[in-house]
Amino acid sequence: MNASVGFILFLVTTLLLLTGAVITGRAARRKLHLPIVSLTIVSLCVTIYYAEQLGKLYDLESAGWIYPFHLLIAKVSATSYLVVIGSGLATLRDTARRKTHSTIAYSVITLTVLTAITGTWMILAATPL
Ligand code: HEM
Repeated sequence: MNASVGFILFLVTTLLLLTGAVITGRAARRKLHLPIVSLTIVSLCVTIYYAEQLGKLYDLESAGWIYPFHLLIAKVSATSYLVVIGSGLATLRDTARRKTHSTIAYSVITLTVLTAITGTWMILAATPL
């Protein structure tokens, strides 16, 4: 599969799985929520792999300030998945943590969408090699 197709396919899959994670979390369907969350994280890793392959086809420095800005958001976004896993595990042990987990989960989704927007912007602004 070429880098552009792989990237778009897995980005869309990740966003759909995140939607599934929100729906099953809100409905307290734990037996569905946990496998969907696991698939989301696998799909995110495959998306990052294809994003790196896609990046090799462009002179990303030529995109200007959006390049370091996107890298910063991408790193914060990837790290935030560790935080949502931690808050999810805490919610499994004590349901009173549910509200905190919810706030963190929506922040992670916002960061993921911002990463996708700034990444697309960066590729559009970069010179193909
Ligand atoms: C991409 C990651 C995740 C997203 C987007 C997500 C999203 C959500 C949302 C929106 C809720 C509903 C909160 C509310 O409306 O008050 C929820 C509930 C919950 N989530 Fe997650 N979550 C994620 C990861 C995890 C992980 C890694 C775990 C555990 C290891 C977990 C365990 C739970 C539990 C136990 C609940 C409460 C279900 C209940 O009330 O029975 N979540 N999640």
